[in-house]
Amino acid sequence: MGVVQKVLVLVLFFLSLTSAERPNIVFIVADDLGWNDLGFRNPDMKTPNIDKLATEGIIFNNAYVQPLCSPSRTALMSGMYPFHAGMQHMALVRDQPVCVPLNYTLLPQELKGLGYATHIIGKWHLGFCKWECTPTYRGFDTFLGYYVATEDYFTHSDGGYLDFRDNKLPARNYSGEYSANTFAQRAVDIIHRHNISQPLFMYLPYQSVHGPIEVPKRYEDMYPNVINQGRRQYSGMVSALDEAVGNVTKALKDRGLFENTLILFTADNGGPIEAYANNWPLRGGKYTIWEGGTRGASFMYGAGLQKTGTTHDGLIHAVDWKPTLVSAAGGTPETTIDGMSQWESIRNGLPSPRTEFIYNIDYFEDAFEGHAAIRVGDYKLMLGYPGAFDGWHKPMNRTEDDIPAQPVFYTGDEPVHLFNIREDLTEHNNLAQTMPDMVAKLRTRLEEYNKTMVPANYPDGDPASDPSNFGGVWSPGWC
Ligand SMILES: *[C@@H]1O[C@H](CO)[C@@H](O)[C@H](O)[C@H]1NC(C)=O
Ligand SMILES: *[C@@H]1O[C@H](CO)[C@@H](O)[C@H](O)[C@H]1NC(C)=O
Ligand SMILES: *[C@@H]1O[C@H](CO)[C@@H](O)[C@H](O)[C@H]1NC(C)=O
Ligand SMILES: *[C@@H]1O[C@H](CO)[C@@H](O)[C@H](O)[C@H]1NC(C)=O
Ligand SMILES: *[C@@H]1O[C@H](CO)[C@@H](O)[C@H](O)[C@H]1NC(C)=O
Ligand SMILES: *[C@@H]1O[C@H](CO)[C@@H](O)[C@H](O)[C@H]1NC(C)=O
Repeated sequence: MGVVQKVLVLVLFFLSLTSAERPNIVFIVADDLGWNDLGFRNPDMKTPNIDKLATEGIIFNNAYVQPLCSPSRTALMSGMYPFHAGMQHMALVRDQPVCVPLNYTLLPQELKGLGYATHIIGKWHLGFCKWECTPTYRGFDTFLGYYVATEDYFTHSDGGYLDFRDNKLPARNYSGEYSANTFAQRAVDIIHRHNISQPLFMYLPYQSVHGPIEVPKRYEDMYPNVINQGRRQYSGMVSALDEAVGNVTKALKDRGLFENTLILFTADNGGPIEAYANNWPLRGGKYTIWEGGTRGASFMYGAGLQKTGTTHDGLIHAVDWKPTLVSAAGGTPETTIDGMSQWESIRNGLPSPRTEFIYNIDYFEDAFEGHAAIRVGDYKLMLGYPGAFDGWHKPMNRTEDDIPAQPVFYTGDEPVHLFNIREDLTEHNNLAQTMPDMVAKLRTRLEEYNKTMVPANYPDGDPASDPSNFGGVWSPGWC
């Protein structure tokens, strides 16, 4: 070999070393999945692929999310609390001219900077009123999926209008295909086409298992012992998601990428108990700042983890996942965000660097009273209206016995709840009366955070969003 060739070989060798250091990252988000809706926690659920990854990886017992879709996804993608982004009030509605602040650097942009190929397959729900808000302008090389909160699993339309795109183009030809299949198939195709000279980042925010309750019959039939039809179908949706996860991991194995892949799985919020999800034994569900709305079913598996086959009790908040994945990718996380890297703690089974977090701060003026909640150490202080669905609910089964949870509305009072979450995970024992000093201490801390709150950006819908202005497709171009 000549000198030039030798140098070239050396350069290629070092390039391959650096890319070997960067694991492939697959970040799976399950929509509206309850705490008690996976097999490793609830043996009635059939999720063998997920259970294998979870039990051979690290199951998180204290990984928190926001109570709703858009706020959680804001935290996951930006590492910022939604109350700092104006995204803390409810989920975005399809005709609101809002998106996650454009001056935030999102996770895919960070990973792109580290040399990753970046793909999103599934639900965006972080705003789409102009192109700059949409996935391929915010760090993703490719996008297959939809922009809005919810749509039909087969027609991929919402309110009678298509919301499905392949990169920027409306994709009409997936009509009739169940989204769990479409999304898994796209992920498999990308894995097979992927140029392995680059590390791969796939963000897979599945439609599953958000309403509407729709599932091909073969998945529903996996649950003959569940008599309540809604719960039976919901359970089938969870099993379809599990099969999708199985197909993605199989493709990674077939391609020889699995050994160097880190998988993070999380629910985006607690399960909606009025819509057949289940968070037993936790209190409340989606829409609430009870534990049932904010403690996400979550685990990690794969490359870089030193202590596996275990659970991890450290406090983690959704804002931490962006800096954690950036660290896992060999990057240096920003110091100006709310999230902190949990990578060293998770991978080595060490205590969490996090000692406190904000569940939410939302004083948007509407029919509901505002609320705010903080966790400091073992204690949780909740001020105001906890959110619409309260109580403790076992999985539905026999329809005649199982009345779905009803919304609870508070009327003007300002309840104060204090719980010792470590001793009282299920929030039965309000300590506010007996521990006034602890209430005062946490309130002071909460007020400090409250001073940094950005008011919720939650405007009325804009008729200019009407898809009939855009060829019958939910489209950017109206803000
Ligand atoms: C983004 O812009 C807002 C409003 O101008 C500003 O308050 C905030 O500090 C900026 N954030 C970043 C990360 O640049
Ligand atoms: C839909 O069309 C796109 C673009 O032509 C193609 O790549 C994709 O495979 C098609 N999908 C289906 C399900 O027909
Ligand atoms: C998983 O792959 C199998 C075999 O290709 C296929 O029949 C099935 O529909 C796939 N499942 C999902 C959820 O994509
Ligand atoms: C993969 O990427 C490398 C570096 O950009 C390039 O040299 C190579 O041709 C690519 N391989 C394929 C199969 O496209
Ligand atoms: C549902 O109830 C039926 C009848 O009591 C029982 O046989 C079945 O095991 C129950 N299923 C679950 C998942 O609890
Ligand atoms: C937070 O600030 C808002 C005004 O922006 C106020 O209405 C609310 O009472 C404050 N809450 C706390 C806990 O400090």
